[in-house]
Amino acid sequence: MSVPTTTLKLVVVAGDGIGPEVTGAAIRVLQAALDRGGITLEVVHHLIGGTAIDTVGSSLPAPTLAAARAADAVFLGAVGGPAWDHGGERPEAGLLALRRGLGAFSNLRPVRVWPGAEGHSPLRPERVRGADILFVRELTGGAYFGRPQGVAGIRPRRRGVDTIEYGEAEIQRVARVAFAAARRRRKRVASVDKANVLATSRLWREVVSEVAEEFPDVALEHCLVDSFALRLLLDPRAFDVVVTENLFGDILTDESAALVGTLGVLPSASGGSDGPWLYEPVHGSAPDLAGRGIANPLGAIATAAMLLRLSLAREDLAAAVEDALAFVFANGPLTPDLGGSGSTETVTAAILAQLASGVPR
Ligand code: NAD
Ligand code: IPM
Ligand code: MN
Repeated sequence: MSVPTTTLKLVVVAGDGIGPEVTGAAIRVLQAALDRGGITLEVVHHLIGGTAIDTVGSSLPAPTLAAARAADAVFLGAVGGPAWDHGGERPEAGLLALRRGLGAFSNLRPVRVWPGAEGHSPLRPERVRGADILFVRELTGGAYFGRPQGVAGIRPRRRGVDTIEYGEAEIQRVARVAFAAARRRRKRVASVDKANVLATSRLWREVVSEVAEEFPDVALEHCLVDSFALRLLLDPRAFDVVVTENLFGDILTDESAALVGTLGVLPSASGGSDGPWLYEPVHGSAPDLAGRGIANPLGAIATAAMLLRLSLAREDLAAAVEDALAFVFANGPLTPDLGGSGSTETVTAAILAQLASGVPR
């Protein structure tokens, strides 16, 4: 993928619930950062998720996927909600199809405890201080995509089936992403599986070990997912890069929100093949918050920083946004999920003000 230098063509799929609220905040911050970097932002909005089902009868309309494929980058808010939980097409299917359609097989989910923000975690500050983990979650395989899948039969004898399947090439490519990332960090990879029970995990372990031989300067540790889930809370600083399959990655990254105190601040970026990257905060549509103006925009804003770094190679602009984030995290205002009384708007305004006053690096 070429790196745009003068114009960023961005497809925004804001989706459902708080998706449009946090996406609006992130695009304002992105615009401010790009203005500073002399890059023009061209935004086109497209439908996805429940909103798309209600409007055109499909969770991923063809024009959305076509536009996403042709964009420099894609920004997702969130999909799903109780309105679409009662049968029929699911909003989440649209997101899965978008990930697959973009060839986004690796999902980078950094979890960093900002200095001074340790107090937001329900864990003891001394346990989480300085924790800095990069989860590399496999995103287009495993139980999410394995077939057969479904419920068949009639009550009371219905049966549900899901299939977990991984091929060697799928494991190799995501493992390489993790090892390459570790090389730029603290040179440690923890690979998480359930090799004591699952065949796919035994293959996963073998293939990851083989890939490790290509990276002799990076240390590899294999962990079973159950005990890893505990170690993540007891000693998060023991981990640098964590690579794992789709379903474990989904669960463990939500768990890791306990290190920072809320899901509302975790960013992510999905990609790996030649297509544009998909930027998506880790959190969902938060139906309990939708329309109330109090959703935390920091996860979406941190996701915009990832876009500046990965799709535009503008480390300077990414760092400027992250500096503003760290400042607001430490000084407020903060939304209620972090114990504050701020709103999406006041937090976003504080980031924009900090960005405007920050000294360019
Ligand atoms: P959720 O992530 O929406 O919410 C979990 C908890 O975190 C809730 O208490 C919520 O209030 C809080 N939270 C989430 N984002 C927040 C934010 N920005 N600011 C403050 N608090 C925030 O998960 P859920 O409730 O289990 O799922 C709701 C819907 O979202 C489901 O339909 C699910 O499928 C969907 N979902 C979508 C995505 C996505 O589109 N990327 C991700 C996860 C869940
Ligand atoms: C996430 C979400 C999605 C996932 C859902 C909405 C399909 O939970 O991005 O973490 O499970 O991948
Ligand atoms: Mn999830």
